[in-house]
Amino acid sequence: MNMDFRIIPADTELIPQMLKIENASFSDPWKEELFNFYFSARAGTVLAAVSPVSELELFGFIAATIVPPECFIDSVAVAPEHRRKGIAKALLAAVGGDFEVTLEVRESNLAARELYYSLGFELLCVRKNYYDNPTENALVLRKNAVGHEKRTC
Ligand SMILES: CC(C)(COP(=O)(O)OP(=O)(O)OC[C@H]1O[C@@H](n2cnc3c(N)ncnc32)[C@H](O)[C@@H]1OP(=O)(O)O)[C@@H](O)C(=O)NCCC(=O)NCCS
Repeated sequence: MNMDFRIIPADTELIPQMLKIENASFSDPWKEELFNFYFSARAGTVLAAVSPVSELELFGFIAATIVPPECFIDSVAVAPEHRRKGIAKALLAAVGGDFEVTLEVRESNLAARELYYSLGFELLCVRKNYYDNPTENALVLRKNAVGHEKRTC
């Protein structure tokens, strides 16, 4: 068992720390209203990687929309001081399970691309100028669970 962090279902009281990690991680971070909306959405799942000694100390989180057998990763981020400890990998494994997992990533986000390719994600298509601030293409990646039919964008 990993003793560096624990993964638990996230609670709304972690939102302030999620905002801090968002702001440290993205040029177009989610705002508080979006987190609140996400927690109330029926298909929304948010998992938190927390300190092994306190569930109130957040290291990273993942937000996904799950409609079995599909899972769409809406956001995943790890606090800068806790990166390269296997947290994102563990969060993706915990939320993705046996689902067919799809996500979008900025073309320039080499760390995230390395992470996803190391986990077996494959390029599905490119969405031109999908992101703002700065304008950039999105790579749509998918990891097909065994037995799922391969689909295109
Ligand atoms: C991308 C991100 C989520 C990775 O989180 P993490 O917890 O550090 O990742 P992990 O420790 O689980 O890394 C697993 C593997 O991914 C790859 N990887 C992760 N970060 C990497 C980096 N900076 N450079 C190269 N490879 C990297 C490596 O193969 C790594 O395995 P290794 O450490 O044994 O070499 C984190 O860097 C982050 O929060 N970035 C800002 C937010 C973001 O870009 N989110 C993704 C949006 S699509």
